[in-house]
Amino acid sequence: MTKIGFEIIGTGHYVPGEPVTNDDLARVITTSDEWIYQRSGIRQRHYAPDGVGVSDLACEAAKRAIASARIAPSEIDYILFATMTPDYIFPGSGALLGAKLGIPGVPALDIRQQCAAMLFGLQTIDGLIQTGAAKTILFVGAEAHAGFMPWEDWGALDPKNGRSATPEARAHADRHRNLAVLFGDGSGALVLRATDRDAGLRGNKICSDGRFAELLFVPGGGFRSRPYWKPTSFDEDLHIPRMDGRELFKFAVTKLPATARELCASQGLAIEQIDVFLAHQANGRINEHIRKDLGVPVEKLPSNIDRFGNTSGATVPILIDEEMRAGRVKKGQLAMVLALGTGVHWGCALWKL
Ligand SMILES: CC(C)(COP(=O)(O)OP(=O)(O)OC[C@H]1O[C@@H](n2cnc3c(N)ncnc32)[C@H](O)[C@@H]1OP(=O)(O)O)[C@@H](O)C(=O)NCCC(=O)NCCS
Repeated sequence: MTKIGFEIIGTGHYVPGEPVTNDDLARVITTSDEWIYQRSGIRQRHYAPDGVGVSDLACEAAKRAIASARIAPSEIDYILFATMTPDYIFPGSGALLGAKLGIPGVPALDIRQQCAAMLFGLQTIDGLIQTGAAKTILFVGAEAHAGFMPWEDWGALDPKNGRSATPEARAHADRHRNLAVLFGDGSGALVLRATDRDAGLRGNKICSDGRFAELLFVPGGGFRSRPYWKPTSFDEDLHIPRMDGRELFKFAVTKLPATARELCASQGLAIEQIDVFLAHQANGRINEHIRKDLGVPVEKLPSNIDRFGNTSGATVPILIDEEMRAGRVKKGQLAMVLALGTGVHWGCALWKL
């Protein structure tokens, strides 16, 4: 059976509000621009305002992607929605996005592989296209991590207000400072369409290992408990994720280069034959390790973590949108997507653009 190709016909991204710098964060937690930048490569991030959910963020990115594809929303016949911070615990946010885009009835599948969502998305897109179940797919990743940030005085982040958090509030937020400085909010969208062109998924290697789920997880709000949320849960900070940053770091810098080599070997490809490495942006240092390990030149592994932080499921589509609009990533190139997300899910995909 000949493989049906798929190509990107439109891209878009959106970040809410003004950027919040590392110096702004230092007014609510004990940190510094130097610590954050050296450890992660992050200078600033954006946060979704209270009352704005991922379906709203996604809608903005999706509209931009649909406009750049020059299609009507009604041409979309499948929605894939990736988020780890949904509007509701259930239902998922994909159907909400469809309604907001004015295309109710279009099937919407929610992907919850966190920062590894693009890898699972690509495999799903390929399957939908090969079976003829869909021809024009909207893939959107969106995150609103603001809801788990450990400070309460959001006004203190704005330099115009000229105030810092109280010592008590700061001491509380400091318990989660390793996690809080890394994440930012935003959305990225891709419109993908079946094509006769030689384009689409060329191979992938993805893995999941639930033994390590607690390297990054939200301890509260799970249905193992009756009720799933207790009056004391909030006081115990059970809504704030716990993260073992060191172990995740080690996981990423060992598994991702090894998986990239395995995938290339299975396809008879050399790393040098890949035009661009579209890596999830969890930490600039992780990507530097991977880049050096694989011997990839700097210009082949684009980075935007300095401006957005880790936007989890939104990261790879945001990166693709920026790189394609800038003309650095183009149709016809061979890309490798690399990502690791909590679960733990990780892997690589070879994508002929
Ligand atoms: C989170 C991360 C930046 C922390 O870097 P690290 O070098 O491992 O730092 P540690 O957590 O060991 O902390 C080192 C010190 O800095 C302090 N520290 C932690 N967060 C801080 C912050 N935001 N500002 C200033 N100091 C901080 C710690 O308290 C610790 O102090 P101590 O030595 O006095 O105890 C790093 O581990 C990381 O990025 N890991 C990967 C996380 C990730 O990818 N998550 C998403 C996966 S999808």
